[in-house]
Amino acid sequence: MIEVKNICCIGAGYVGGPTMAVIADKCPNINVHVVDIDEERIKKWNDKNLRNLPIYEPGLAKIVSRCRDVNLHFSNSVKEKISVADMVFISVNTPTKTKGLGAGKASDLRWVEESARQVAKFSKGHTIVVEKSTLPVRTAEVIQNILRSAEQDNQRIGISFNVLSNPEFLAEGTAIEDLEHPDRVLIGGDNLDAMNALHAIYERWVSKEKILFTNIWSSELAKLTANAFLAQRISSINSIAALCEATGADVREVSRAIGTDSRIGSKFLDSGPGFGGSCFKKDILNLVYLAEYFGLNEVASFWESVVKLNNWHQNRISKLVVKKLFGTVTGKKIVVLGFSFKANTNDTRESAAIKICKDLIDEGAEIWIHDPKVSKSQIEKDLNMEPYEDVEETKEHKLLNKLGKWKFSKNLDIFDQAHAVLMLTEWEEYKNINWEDISKKMVNPSWVFDARSITERSKVEDAHLNLWRVGDGTSK
Ligand code: NAD
Ligand code: UGA
Repeated sequence: MIEVKNICCIGAGYVGGPTMAVIADKCPNINVHVVDIDEERIKKWNDKNLRNLPIYEPGLAKIVSRCRDVNLHFSNSVKEKISVADMVFISVNTPTKTKGLGAGKASDLRWVEESARQVAKFSKGHTIVVEKSTLPVRTAEVIQNILRSAEQDNQRIGISFNVLSNPEFLAEGTAIEDLEHPDRVLIGGDNLDAMNALHAIYERWVSKEKILFTNIWSSELAKLTANAFLAQRISSINSIAALCEATGADVREVSRAIGTDSRIGSKFLDSGPGFGGSCFKKDILNLVYLAEYFGLNEVASFWESVVKLNNWHQNRISKLVVKKLFGTVTGKKIVVLGFSFKANTNDTRESAAIKICKDLIDEGAEIWIHDPKVSKSQIEKDLNMEPYEDVEETKEHKLLNKLGKWKFSKNLDIFDQAHAVLMLTEWEEYKNINWEDISKKMVNPSWVFDARSITERSKVEDAHLNLWRVGDGTSK
């Protein structure tokens, strides 16, 4: 039985950070080192003020405060920590390639390859290498090839490796809960000793029947498939939402009705502004690329339609806002509530808010954005545009300057003279907004566009505001 005493995780991101924090918490006898090339990120992980951790996840700060500098360490010492590790997790980013072969679809594996090369170069003795990143099927082969050349290097006697696939299924916003109580843990591999060593770690807090062994390719493909199925459900329900709006049906009622069928299940049936997040789109496009590569064009176009529907749905929302505001939003103030791709995270990657805000700014709107966890600088990066600050504008200046613009607010006192409120993230604090008070501040007539369906129709309409809710065809 291989006993793991030192873990090194390459990549201190949304997966590496929380996953290693939970392993350290559950396995006090294992030393866990999380390393990253990003110095700023590591500084934040080591910040004394736990509010400054680079990632916001409910429950994470508590675990970090318990384990950090005890058996959980964050550093930039990639070489040193690989050299003392019995097990190395590769948890680096795998975004969609932007150029070259497979651009726009295939995953860019340069960070994975670089990690494998670092392990090949710096490891000592026997090392179990675990793919934690989401990877195209057969990536383990690439990693194995790189490691094999190190094994065959005469200068480096006594080093050997096993490669396992152990994809991560956590969702942001519930990462700690998902890691502590996973539906399953998947371990793919062909070496039982190495698989058992990883099993022994999870077994400390996950029941044995939830830890599944598969071959390595099934494990890699299962991760892509899980994300594709989940994203497909969202595109399915969003397509039905559009049909509900056209026919007088209500998507919430349709979801409830179909969700009670135990074969369909009730989860992941909430219509919204379209799925965001760093993974769904990239993983489906990766699946599409793989299918095309193997000549399975029908399979490729089936999955590609999930992404196409999502893009169409996001466009549909910005178009609809313009249409309801009498065909123009030029110079009109629109309050956007929520910028993260879902509630309880500060992550904005692929957030529907980015596309929708850009569309409205292009149309000339004045967007005021609020989000409880996303920073102004992050929004600036995402919109690729500086915010406008409080410059005193003359009337002529305003008329001449019809370009759209945006502004950020940390508080919710931003409804004065707004023509519309657009709700894009389902943050808890937006559910109890006092529409009576807000209505008095907005221009008349004005609109609430609820892309998350978190408002109560009667409360908004009693405040004499017009309401559009995604998938709600019951509006007069
Ligand atoms: P991330 O971008 O937040 O973090 C990746 C980190 O790896 C970055 O901080 C980067 O600097 C670091 N890195 C890259 N190359 C490195 C190297 N050679 N040495 C040291 N550090 C290096 O990414 P993430 O969201 O944590 O995702 C990581 C992987 O996990 C992806 O494959 C993703 O698909 C998968 N995944 C993500 C989630 C999620 O919710 N974000 C969930 C499950 C799986
Ligand atoms: C998703 C999967 O749920 C995780 O299992 C997976 O590990 C992860 O991707 C990954 O590989 O990165 P995540 O993207 O963090 O997790 O969040 P989800 O809860 O899946 O939400 C994704 C998007 O779908 C969000 O924009 C969310 O608002 C949207 N969504 C989700 C809906 O519009 N409706 C729903 O019913 C559920």
